[in-house]
Amino acid sequence: MAGLQNVAKFGLLLLLTVDWTWAFIPEQELHSWYWNNKGKQALHASLSMTPNVHMAKNLILFLGDGMGVTTVTAARILKGQLAGFNGEETSLAMDTFPYLALSKTYNVDQQMPDSAGTATAYLCGVKANYGTLGVSASTRRGKCTANVNNDVVSVLHRAKMAGKSVGIVTTTRVQHASPGASYAHTPDRGWYGNADLPAEAVQNGCHDIAWQLINNTEINVILGGGRQYMFPTTTTDPEYPTHRGARTDGKNLVDEWLTGKSNAKYVWDKVGLDAVDPANTDFLMGLFEPKDCQYEYQRNINTDPSLTQMMEKAIRILERNPKGYYLFVEDEGRIDHGHHDGRASRALTEAVQFDVAIGRAAELTSELDTLSVVTADHSHVFAFGGQSYRGNPVLGLSREAASDGKRYTTAVYGNGPGYKIINGSRPDVNESTAGKGTFRQQAAVPKRSETHGIEDVAIFAKGPMAHLFHGVQEQSYIAHAMAYAACLPPYEECDLQPNRSGCLHPSLLVVLLGVLLALSPLLRSV
Ligand SMILES: *[C@@H]1O[C@H](CO)[C@@H](O)[C@H](O)[C@H]1NC(C)=O
Ligand SMILES: *[C@@H]1O[C@H](CO)[C@@H](O)[C@H](O)[C@H]1NC(C)=O
Ligand SMILES: *[C@@H]1O[C@H](CO)[C@@H](O)[C@H](O)[C@H]1NC(C)=O
Ligand SMILES: *[C@@H]1O[C@H](CO)[C@@H](O)[C@H](O)[C@H]1NC(C)=O
Ligand SMILES: [Zn+2]
Repeated sequence: MAGLQNVAKFGLLLLLTVDWTWAFIPEQELHSWYWNNKGKQALHASLSMTPNVHMAKNLILFLGDGMGVTTVTAARILKGQLAGFNGEETSLAMDTFPYLALSKTYNVDQQMPDSAGTATAYLCGVKANYGTLGVSASTRRGKCTANVNNDVVSVLHRAKMAGKSVGIVTTTRVQHASPGASYAHTPDRGWYGNADLPAEAVQNGCHDIAWQLINNTEINVILGGGRQYMFPTTTTDPEYPTHRGARTDGKNLVDEWLTGKSNAKYVWDKVGLDAVDPANTDFLMGLFEPKDCQYEYQRNINTDPSLTQMMEKAIRILERNPKGYYLFVEDEGRIDHGHHDGRASRALTEAVQFDVAIGRAAELTSELDTLSVVTADHSHVFAFGGQSYRGNPVLGLSREAASDGKRYTTAVYGNGPGYKIINGSRPDVNESTAGKGTFRQQAAVPKRSETHGIEDVAIFAKGPMAHLFHGVQEQSYIAHAMAYAACLPPYEECDLQPNRSGCLHPSLLVVLLGVLLALSPLLRSV
């Protein structure tokens, strides 16, 4: 026995020795000049930062559902490692945003928040109860009668009223809690379609979220999942012949939405989306799955568009409005779902994709007239630690065994379906099992679904008035700062001037050209 233990110890020692040679440290990082130069550059950038105090023409809110700070760090390392680097030194697109704040995410009635109560806060500017959408905390969850005169109005709606174009893009169903708070008012986030309404809600005249999607605010671009809540049970799904619509009231909400609109289109797959010409489209609804969109890793790239592709089409349509636009972009419905499932690989892969969309948006928009905000609704009980050398695989193992003699992953969960005890102790793990996309990291407490976290999440901002995002703020502050930046109600008196993007105004150009032409004979004679 003792001999075996020695062999094991020796093996571990050997592993440790070998580990050192695996850690690839760029030579330059060994020198003080490298870090001093890096520091000076960053300091210089900080010193030359001047707040953009112009009025924002466009507002984009990127929402990473469940994207806590540990998820951001792990996604950053994963992005770098996928590109063949150590990963820690990599920058996400969101890392380049100059202004940051922390957001306190609690719901009025819950310390551990959900996506509905939080969406009401960051989209409408008023904190709400767990599970409720677009209503103040006077409304209790699930009580239709309590839902009188408690509606709170989203910045998306205010932008539309001010003449801007508005859109929602999500990888979840478009009736999901996060996009839902931009147009719906309901005491229960689960009332997706009319069949989900309890008797009390029907009696008291509450409407399902899908109905509100087409009835409340005229939204120019709606892209995501959620087909089944729009069609009657008599309609067969175009993609899955065994699947049908879920509405028991016989309504075809897509037809109702198209009625009376010109330059309006409905599409349900990537081919349809690709065929949409933004130049002559004012309204676009694209619903690509009956419920939520597929995870990025299992997405059929021929039939389903990516988040970035949906977002790009949305921006191309919305930017034609000279008064600007408001766009809500959510990935991660699937980051959240990956974490709930206890599978860090799923959540982190989605987070990297989300960042790709944020990076693409930076190419499609101008920081001079567009306020971009990236945040999360809440965190998860996802922890990331242990002993790891530089460049350790983000889904890899701690370099030394735990006190039970077994290895463990540096990514773990506080609770969730990853809890596993075999023969009275946790199972051992090796690199090849831990690296699999299906692998569930160990959780300390058994739960069918891993829970949200309670700690603050980050808010990243750039563009006009982005400096309003600083310090530790209530989550509801996000809607106020965004509304102010674009002088939307209740901040019409904001007194901000629009930025003409630094270009000469076209009419001024014509005058200049005229003067030059008039002067040219004189110039030649000189
Ligand atoms: C637009 O804003 C940027 C950043 O604040 C500034 O550098 C630029 O001069 C502004 N352009 C005009 C025409 O105001
Ligand atoms: C709202 O829904 C009703 C019933 O489905 C429909 O008749 C009406 O036209 C809708 N209103 C708007 C503004 O879309
Ligand atoms: C659990 O313990 C029993 C008895 O020692 C053994 O036969 C079995 O293989 C163990 N199961 C696992 C999964 O290790
Ligand atoms: C890793 O663990 C799995 C499951 O216990 C096992 O099947 C596999 O052979 C192990 N791989 C290595 C390289 O040890
Ligand atoms: Zn969740």
